[in-house]
Amino acid sequence: MPIGEMLMRKGALTVSLILLAAGATIGGYAPGAAAQAAKGQAGKADDLRAVQATPQDIAEGKRLADSSCVRCHGANGISTAKGVPHLAGQRPAYLYLELRAYQSHDRGDKAMDGAVNFLSDDALVKVAAYYASLDPPPPDTAAAAKGSSAKLDPVQAGKAAAAGCAGCHGETGVSKTPGTPSLIGLDPKFLMASMKDYKSGKRKNEMMKTMLSALTEADLNNVALYYALQKPARAQTPNPGDKAAGKAAASAACAGCHGDLGVSGNPATPSLAGQDAQYLVAAMRAYRDSSRNDETMKALAAGLDDNGTKLVAAFYAAQEPRAPNVRKPITLAEWAQRCDRCHGTNGNSTDARLPALAAQRVDYMEKVLHAYRMGERRNTTMAAMAAGLTEAEVENLAAHYARQKARAVVFVMPPAR
Ligand code: HEC
Ligand code: HEC
Ligand code: HEC
Ligand code: HEC
Repeated sequence: MPIGEMLMRKGALTVSLILLAAGATIGGYAPGAAAQAAKGQAGKADDLRAVQATPQDIAEGKRLADSSCVRCHGANGISTAKGVPHLAGQRPAYLYLELRAYQSHDRGDKAMDGAVNFLSDDALVKVAAYYASLDPPPPDTAAAAKGSSAKLDPVQAGKAAAAGCAGCHGETGVSKTPGTPSLIGLDPKFLMASMKDYKSGKRKNEMMKTMLSALTEADLNNVALYYALQKPARAQTPNPGDKAAGKAAASAACAGCHGDLGVSGNPATPSLAGQDAQYLVAAMRAYRDSSRNDETMKALAAGLDDNGTKLVAAFYAAQEPRAPNVRKPITLAEWAQRCDRCHGTNGNSTDARLPALAAQRVDYMEKVLHAYRMGERRNTTMAAMAAGLTEAEVENLAAHYARQKARAVVFVMPPAR
């Protein structure tokens, strides 16, 4: 439990002074590293020794760092080498715990093994305290550029890519144009397949082919996701036909695949509920005359005459569409919120045993997130966190934290009473 916390200004940096009671747990969880190390000979009070370092300890730590660490970790703990982390301003107890983990081979790394093998526990405490006392690295502006360019939230990206579709398909995919299908209520897999079929010419429509020609596979995925997440509503187009008369024919011939009320349970079979009536009739005609190729639908369309087709179309157009079973992906901001619970606001950890991520090297963070996921770096908490991340999310989160402003935190032990 922090006994006191105060903020003061030191130059441009905000420095938090956090008083720690020995053996304290901040935030009510047991940090993995601390818990792991505590299993050894030393208790939790020991883990915090680097927090208690005196100015003389720090001076000794600096001598060791200058002779043994700078060639990899850079002058003042700011690394210029790929895969080598910045140490400047990192949290003291965390640094000490990681050094012990290298020494015990709990955390394996060839470069680090050689560096720490022959150091005493005291030396580890001092060098950890020294690096923690340094001003942190500046934010990585290159990572800022990388993160802000391509990798938007996929739903936002889909909306942007679909801007040119709204004129015909409606702002949110609910058609207002007779003959133009609504795009809501359709599974992203079906939307993807039909867009790719237009692009390849398998589904013949020159106008749609042109409309989609500039979109990449990633754009198409985002567009399909965007429409799948829009609120379903019936097409805002006329449906003058008899809405009840087609029900019997639909139940007999179509419900098995398209669902009782036109809501399909199979991603490859489109839902028909609430679809524009004129489009439904045109689609059936296209299957019948083979201008749209699908053997199953060709046979079924041939089984209905013009009047029967109109009645079935009127029945489906009058049904209530439903959203397909797709979950909204977690956005970068939502992920970062989860990570910040342990790593501090914008990656500025206020727990001496938990690493700060702010302004850390982007390549290093990507590397360790992969290592956690593969089990090469062992930590149950981080393995679980990293397992849920896609490759794009790993890159986005690493870039997000690399571009944050790092804040130094000075941890002070309360005086013994
Ligand atoms: C030969 C190059 C090399 C030398 C010398 C070296 N390191 Fe490292 N250090 C690395 C690399 C590479 C990593 C990242 C390894 C990994 O992914 O586990 C690392 C990681 C670390 C970490 C973990 C940081 C984190 O954020 O988890 C600490 C702490 C550390 N080094 C401290 C030191 C200290 C103290 C010294 C000097 C006694 C030292 N290193 C010397 C290359 C080196
Ligand atoms: C000029 C009007 C117009 C524009 C703009 C347009 N579409 Fe279309 N779209 C149509 C019409 C008409 C059809 C029906 C074509 C057919 O019969 O195959 C269609 C069909 C589709 C289908 C097939 C739906 C289904 O149920 O089978 C998809 C998917 C689609 N469009 C997506 C898009 C996307 C994505 C964009 C924007 C990049 C777009 N459209 C722009 C008019 C348009
Ligand atoms: C054996 C399963 C099956 C049955 C039964 C079936 N369909 Fe289909 N239907 C499909 C599949 C699969 C597709 C997608 C084909 C494609 O990619 O063009 C489809 C597509 C359609 C489409 C195009 C929808 C769109 O958004 O482009 C319409 C309209 C349609 N069916 C109407 C009907 C009607 C009306 C009946 C009953 C007379 C029927 N279907 C029976 C499987 C079936
Ligand atoms: C429940 C607490 C918790 C949460 C939530 C959490 N972490 Fe961690 N994280 C830790 C602990 C503890 C460590 C140190 C583990 C070790 O010793 O290897 C760590 C280590 C890391 C490291 C390595 C730091 C270094 O300097 O080597 C990275 C990178 C990281 N976490 C990123 C993330 C990201 C990204 C998220 C969100 C997706 C996240 N963490 C969520 C607790 C957490």
